[in-house]
Amino acid sequence: MTKHTAIHPIGIFDSGIGGLTVARAVVNHLPSENIIYFGDTAHMPYGDKSTSAIQAYSVKIADMLLQQQCKLIVIACYSATSAAYELVKEYVADKAIVMDVIDPMVPYLHANHANHRIGLIGTRQTVNSNVYKKKIDKLNRNIQLSSLPTNLLASAIEEFGDNKVIDSLLNEYLSHPTLKNLDVLILACTHYPVVKENIARYFKHEVEIIDPSDIVALAIKKRLAQDNLLNPDGIGSKHFYVSDYTESFSAGTKTFFAEDINLEHYPLWD
Ligand code: DGL
Repeated sequence: MTKHTAIHPIGIFDSGIGGLTVARAVVNHLPSENIIYFGDTAHMPYGDKSTSAIQAYSVKIADMLLQQQCKLIVIACYSATSAAYELVKEYVADKAIVMDVIDPMVPYLHANHANHRIGLIGTRQTVNSNVYKKKIDKLNRNIQLSSLPTNLLASAIEEFGDNKVIDSLLNEYLSHPTLKNLDVLILACTHYPVVKENIARYFKHEVEIIDPSDIVALAIKKRLAQDNLLNPDGIGSKHFYVSDYTESFSAGTKTFFAEDINLEHYPLWD
């Protein structure tokens, strides 16, 4: 389908540095792959942007990743997945594989969560798009999905990590009636895995908290294997680009990637 071979990189993009939680999982499961990460920090947060703005940003970023010869592009952002996955797929066509962070969850929920009451938290864009709900309803597995936008959470996590401020914000959001009597809660925002433990504690460990990152990474591995594009002998080179560079973005990367990385400015919008 593509002119790419196994040695070409995997491109991963997000609105900012939160998508590094997905990149981390990809690196853990595919350590020898070459990775190019792009965080659109100039336009972050995407969660409150219009669908058309997110679509325009996402297509341009996909184009940049195509120029870098990526064999597979991961939309590692729930807001961008909700707003722009179909459009990016159409734009990229057969020039690369495009994957998102929602579709890999669908077979997982089908296999493990029939008849369950599932909660979902994410940005306004992710929740209002109803993309997750439409995909789950199509499964016909009697899964009841209730979604709550938790708008301030992503920026609060960037500011505070997982401290007490986060616990009080979580208290406020998670006590909402929409999230009563859950079996499972899906973390549908790249930032939330950082506070997964705080969320589990809030629910007294009685609700299963799902961070989809590993499921997404395994789906990527499976897809590359199917297309004969795995790079088991690669050197695992990594480039992390952002559209707007600041020291605080650079310092924040550790929260999401769990190791120091070198963040480089890529002036995509100049
Ligand atoms: N990366 C975004 C997401 O997963 C969260 C931050 C934002 O609103 O840009 O939806």
